[in-house]
Amino acid sequence: MADVWQSAMDHAVAVARKAGEIVRGALKDERTVMTKSCAVDLVTQTDQKVEQLIIQSAKEKFPTHRFIGEESVAAGESCILSDDPTWIIDPIDGTTNFVHAFPFVAVSIGFSINKQVEFGVVYSCLEDKMFTARRGKGAFCNGEALQVSEQADIHQAIVATEFGSSRDPAAMDHIFRSLRNILCLPVHGVRGAGTAAINMCLVASGCVEAYYEIGIHVWDVAAGSLIVSEAGGVLMDVEGGDMDLMSRRIVAANNTTIAERIVKEIVSFTLQRDDAP
Ligand code: IPD
Repeated sequence: MADVWQSAMDHAVAVARKAGEIVRGALKDERTVMTKSCAVDLVTQTDQKVEQLIIQSAKEKFPTHRFIGEESVAAGESCILSDDPTWIIDPIDGTTNFVHAFPFVAVSIGFSINKQVEFGVVYSCLEDKMFTARRGKGAFCNGEALQVSEQADIHQAIVATEFGSSRDPAAMDHIFRSLRNILCLPVHGVRGAGTAAINMCLVASGCVEAYYEIGIHVWDVAAGSLIVSEAGGVLMDVEGGDMDLMSRRIVAANNTTIAERIVKEIVSFTLQRDDAP
């Protein structure tokens, strides 16, 4: 049977590369910074321009597909994951990094069918690393197969996390209690690249054992989630059980032992779901 989704994936890789060129070019200019939900939730004209490029180019080729894009949702479009083929786009994952020229910035494109991610493309544009995964066909970086770390001892692990873009004091308390618990296990270290997508690619690459966060959105993690699982890793909710793409919570780890150990230390909380009416 013909591989019907391959041309969509090829298009995603090509347009992510083009988007990366725009991002690199924009770093040479002054960046106009605007805010969204709060003073530290940033957006630039480049986020909007890149999202338009990805959506318009994909719509021309695949007019029946649906789209969930970070900036379109910020502009009032709905964020409902249906069974239809759906592109889930973060035009710049790591906008704060982009604003400050901190060198980890990704274009993230996930593609779902029947609410399952079928392929994921994360282009780390300043490192020029193209991470790709196709359901059942493995995960790659610039064409080289990826494999998660084999470490099963949490005390020998590096864990990635982020502080997110909310400064709600109650949420910050939970975040710092979790961080303290995990650091004091102890683990070898805690890191954060400033982009959920790249943190997940680091798990897939075997550089860090796990990444967790409460506060992410579906566009931050759709592509990365498949890259992790196709590299042999696991995905979980922060309270254990299945990860739910719309729940704004994730644990992505190299194996179940590490994931479950981290879950025990996370002081969880609930946020409004991405698909809340
Ligand atoms: C953000 C980044 C950041 C994470 C936030 C995300 P954005 O995405 O992935 O690392 O902590 O939760 O919202 O806003 O730069 O696309």
